[in-house]
Amino acid sequence: MAANYADEINRRRTFAIISHPDAGKTTLTEKFLLYGGAINLAGSVKGKATARHAVSDWMEIEKERGISVTSSVLQFEYDGFCINILDTPGHQDFSEDTYRTLMAADSAVMVIDASKGVEAQTRKLFKVCVMRKIPIFTFINKMDRDANDTFELLDEIEKELGIATCPVNWPIGSGKSFKGVYDRNKEAVYTFSDTEKGTKEGETTEVSVAERDKLVAIIGDEAADKLYDEIELLDGASAEFDLDAVRSGDLTPVFFGSALTNFGVEIFLKHFLEMTTTPLARKADIGLIDPVENEFSAFVFKIQANMNKAHRDRIAFMRICSGKFDASQEVRHVQGNKVMRLSQPQQIMADERKILSEAYAGDIIGVFDPGIFSIGDTVCMPKEKIQYEGIPTFAPEHFARVRQIDTMKRKQFIKGVSQIAQEGAIQIFQEFNTGMEEIIVGVVGVLQFDVLKYRLENEYNVEIRLEPLPYEHIRWIENKDIDLNKLTGTSDMKKIQDLKGNPLLLFVNSWSVGMTLERNEGLVLSEFGRN
Ligand code: G4P
Repeated sequence: MAANYADEINRRRTFAIISHPDAGKTTLTEKFLLYGGAINLAGSVKGKATARHAVSDWMEIEKERGISVTSSVLQFEYDGFCINILDTPGHQDFSEDTYRTLMAADSAVMVIDASKGVEAQTRKLFKVCVMRKIPIFTFINKMDRDANDTFELLDEIEKELGIATCPVNWPIGSGKSFKGVYDRNKEAVYTFSDTEKGTKEGETTEVSVAERDKLVAIIGDEAADKLYDEIELLDGASAEFDLDAVRSGDLTPVFFGSALTNFGVEIFLKHFLEMTTTPLARKADIGLIDPVENEFSAFVFKIQANMNKAHRDRIAFMRICSGKFDASQEVRHVQGNKVMRLSQPQQIMADERKILSEAYAGDIIGVFDPGIFSIGDTVCMPKEKIQYEGIPTFAPEHFARVRQIDTMKRKQFIKGVSQIAQEGAIQIFQEFNTGMEEIIVGVVGVLQFDVLKYRLENEYNVEIRLEPLPYEHIRWIENKDIDLNKLTGTSDMKKIQDLKGNPLLLFVNSWSVGMTLERNEGLVLSEFGRN
């Protein structure tokens, strides 16, 4: 029964690109699309600040700031593969959605700026990939600019992120003298003719390193000598390539290039598609669900409110985990215990929304949500009742006490805050052992505070005052039977609880987290919460 759609599923590759802002994620995505023939001229995904929000300006705040808070999914074909790129908001102030998007990906491409190395946001996103043990591929970008020493870059990735690296290719020079890359497997050098920004890769020349004279004629004596030395060093020093270790997220294959000038992008894409996985099996309450052997199932990983302000509509984004989605069929929403037809199933591309009639495991669909879905919910065939493992709650890093200015509007205030929290845009907490009187809001990126304020004013007609709190670290307490009153914390520690009454701890310093663990034997703290 599965065979008729097995081929469709097996040609799918679903991944996210993670990077620190400005490392080149958008530029690289554009070049991928260009190779897939999805767009005619790179630059249409995102131009300068003014055009950046053209696609998803679902909220005034995006327009005002010229940034994109939302994320979308890009699907394109390349070389027989059907590729889904999960785009994450590129702005400094990312939200929990950025993390959640990684829950829907089967692998991640990590873009690193060659002159900056590992940066803060990459580190955070990387942690989520590690938690999921998904394969991570590294593209070291901007080699057309003066780059840090290549060996040092690799060392930094290994030390800072704790993952072994295996360079698949190796750069020849950097900045103005960047000539191309050496492919370790083929033992050949690929040089590229420079191309205009936004066009496809120019001529590629392949020269075997065994042909020294030929190589010297192209890259020069000095670069050739350096390359021969580096090859020797590299063969002695770097980890062996091991596809199993890549697939389990223990080893990252590393590639070098320049997204802007199109050096090494297609080489990377080709290798990446070969090495990454087909849609992965996913854990549910009844065990692993194989994408091909099972009929349709999906889970909600993101809810986007107000895609259309006039209608206050919500779109639930689902990752299809198994089988084929057929829009004419009924499905079961397991948590709501309801059999229904998904309304207006669509593919949310960068600049368009396309109504879909079918889709396959690996694909992402957006469906109209009348307010019934929550993050982590499962949808499957009516005769089934499986439940996928929930999506963790990610640690907010900014906290504020929130009060409504007009005390008469308490009801609207609570309703608004609760609904926005249900969508997963913010997390709400209370003082430990008191009621809803005081609300503490936690967010992953400070922009979410503005989003909250804006939405409460515009959608619920409630003005609020936010009083920032100094905490930056939150920990869920894993021990079930802990007496919080007996906990010996640090002076900067604050006890709070979530809406279900689960206790949590807030700290100003990461040092205090360690101290508290030391002082309370057996205490287990986690950076990820469970829904
Ligand atoms: P992001 O999505 O990761 O935030 O980065 P984005 O692709 O927007 O790139 C950030 C800046 O870096 C852009 O310049 C982009 O052109 C530049 N860039 C990307 N890849 C490369 C590369 O390989 N080499 C060099 N030299 N630059 C690169 P910008 O001036 O901010 O914007 P724009 O004027 O180019 O649009």
